[in-house]
Amino acid sequence: LPVVVLISGNGSNLQTFIDGQMAGELPIDIKAVVSNRADAYGLTRATSAGITAQTLPHGGYPSRDEYDRDLTALIEQHQPELVILAGFMRILTPAFVSHFAGRLINIHPSLLPAFRGLDTHERALAAGVKEHGCSVHFVTPELDAGPVIVQAKVPVLSDDTADTLAKRVQTQEHRIYPLAVRWLAEGRVEMRADGVYRDGKRQ
Ligand code: GRF
Repeated sequence: LPVVVLISGNGSNLQTFIDGQMAGELPIDIKAVVSNRADAYGLTRATSAGITAQTLPHGGYPSRDEYDRDLTALIEQHQPELVILAGFMRILTPAFVSHFAGRLINIHPSLLPAFRGLDTHERALAAGVKEHGCSVHFVTPELDAGPVIVQAKVPVLSDDTADTLAKRVQTQEHRIYPLAVRWLAEGRVEMRADGVYRDGKRQ
């Protein structure tokens, strides 16, 4: 499956896709990694693996619409069947999201619908929840509100800090994100008007 991965930073989730592809365990072909930040370490991960790494800086763009139009064109040059957001820290316009509807996925570090938006680990601790986790979901125009493909739960421990909790969640991200991508690559998961279907069953 031809894919493009969008990042803004470290790219540890990207690394799981690179490793899965290289090991022949994930039936994907990463055509390009695109970042909005030139200093994203994930670009180095891509280049080291021989994958095309591109930066489209958002500075200088007068509007989100114009940035997203250029981003769409850049991505479409690679003709991906799946666009993977992996720590891409920008809100996307409805035009961008509709253009890639059904082939655009994200990972969010919470058990959606809980804690949409930023600083999820801090907010989970402040709320005193006993369980936290991460969700892979299809992207729809409303932020972090698209239908969920798969989630993983972790316990919140009494001595957790945002950092220790984030690490526990990331370990699960690195497990469920490649899993969801595999399901998509194998044609086992799709977004329909009324939600996500896996193996023909509504989730
Ligand atoms: C992850 O925690 C992801 O859930 C969030 O951004 C972080 C990206 O981490 N959306 P990395 O760049 O993949 O290491």
